[in-house]
Amino acid sequence: MTLDPSQLNQQRKDDHVNLALEQQKEKQHSSFDDIRFVHHSFSKMAFDQVDVQTVWAQHTHQMPFYINGMTGGSKFTKQFNEKLGQVAAQTGLAIATGSVSAALKDPSLNDSFQIMREVNPNGFVMANLGAHHSLENAKRAVDLLKADALQIHLNVPQEIVMPEGDRDFSNWAENIQAMVENLGVPVIVKEVGFGMSRETIELLISLGVANIDVSGRGGTNFVRIEDDRNNRLDFSALGEWGQTTAESLVEAHAVQDLIERNQVTLLASGGIRQPFDILKALSLGASAVGLSGRFLASVNDIGVDGTVEMVHNWRESLQLMMLMLEAKNIQSLQHKDLILSGNLLDWAQLRQIDADHFANRSQSH
Ligand SMILES: Cc1cc2nc3c(=O)[nH]c(=O)nc-3n(C[C@H](O)[C@H](O)[C@H](O)COP(=O)(O)O)c2cc1C
Repeated sequence: MTLDPSQLNQQRKDDHVNLALEQQKEKQHSSFDDIRFVHHSFSKMAFDQVDVQTVWAQHTHQMPFYINGMTGGSKFTKQFNEKLGQVAAQTGLAIATGSVSAALKDPSLNDSFQIMREVNPNGFVMANLGAHHSLENAKRAVDLLKADALQIHLNVPQEIVMPEGDRDFSNWAENIQAMVENLGVPVIVKEVGFGMSRETIELLISLGVANIDVSGRGGTNFVRIEDDRNNRLDFSALGEWGQTTAESLVEAHAVQDLIERNQVTLLASGGIRQPFDILKALSLGASAVGLSGRFLASVNDIGVDGTVEMVHNWRESLQLMMLMLEAKNIQSLQHKDLILSGNLLDWAQLRQIDADHFANRSQSH
């Protein structure tokens, strides 16, 4: 039986979810394991002094982590959007859909995205679209979800490996600039698990982007997902392509002045496994931390109630670790000394990024 283009697209969305769930079962070395905090024996604070609220995309969020863009576009993936939306509604987590591109072409798929808003009418919801889309499509994406913000994803390696992927990236920068200037809601530009270089961050800032999610390697791997689906060209050698999330945050540090001068908010995602990774990503400079694969597996394995309980536990764990570090809020966490080692340290040194700064920054504060 041959499938029409819309059916093929739905099949692709289902494949993505199933292959991402498979990847969640793997154990891999994490760049976050190359980061340690310096322990001090006093805390001089009480638990109720710890404040984890954070501001990004022009909104104050009570939780320092969020459910990052994943899915929608088929019957099967609609169930995931419904469950993830319920988790967001019950916990106050911000949430994003996957790319709504398919619904812009085929409105019969609208409900697979809109369900996330229906079950979460008052939450912070982000629509998601690729950078090849026009400003007009970006407005349609926001309207579809009554979205509070729009995520624009950068996914060149995924498109390259995907048999049916885009082969023309020449208009991305101008599309992003038009959206940032005219959309009317905050725009967040994100990677999809390949991380960012300081050059990418500089370019995004020059386009006026104020919210950047570096989304690095270490978790869901779209080169491997698309390579598993591609039976003509073999891209298995690119399985380790891209910067890890920690490397990307270190890259961002190299352009810290530019980030501060332009009041840019950094977000981090990619390979976040547990609250300790969130703590490290926040400390490395992120204002909030996104999780995709981990939440996908969680609603799949332990359902909505189990995931809501996990979120509450994670928030408490974060607060407790911040108490241990005597960090009363996220800004103060970003002045704690961090020791980088292994591949992460090599990366920083070869890119001439000052790793010593992280190890001694509390003194200068
Ligand atoms: C099933 C699945 C589908 C995804 N689809 C999208 C998408 O449509 N748009 C997007 O920006 N990112 C998409 N992503 C990428 C995530 O937002 C994130 O950048 C990446 O998965 C790394 O985070 P993780 O390691 O926590 O999964 C998807 C991730 C998963 C697991």
